[in-house]
Amino acid sequence: MMYNEKVIEVFSNPKNVGVIENADGVGTVGNATCGDIMKIYLKIDNGVITDAKFQTFGCAAAIATSSTATEMIKGKTVEEAEKLTNAAVVESLGGLPAQKMHCSVLAEEAIAEAIKDYRSRQAKK
Ligand code: FES
Repeated sequence: MMYNEKVIEVFSNPKNVGVIENADGVGTVGNATCGDIMKIYLKIDNGVITDAKFQTFGCAAAIATSSTATEMIKGKTVEEAEKLTNAAVVESLGGLPAQKMHCSVLAEEAIAEAIKDYRSRQAKK
């Protein structure tokens, strides 16, 4: 199995690692097969994602896709961010080895969970 250079570069210098205190939405998902966990924090202002951070306890592919996915949703509306697919994230990374594709699903799912959390908090307001 080989990661391409872009994946290695993003994995080596991931963006948006960390926690957002007072996040407007938080999503945590796990991969049942490998046991890896990803947590995504969103700051949302008037329906626009102004900041996104992640904590990933996982493999290189999971970290590279978390970094890329959080970069891709910043500045987008919640509705636009919901449409981000793992395929688009993988494409932006120039591809992943076939046996690593499942890792990219974590970011898509964690973002969906964080948006769900945001919506349920909004509903309570
Ligand atoms: Fe678990 Fe990649 S091996 S997310």
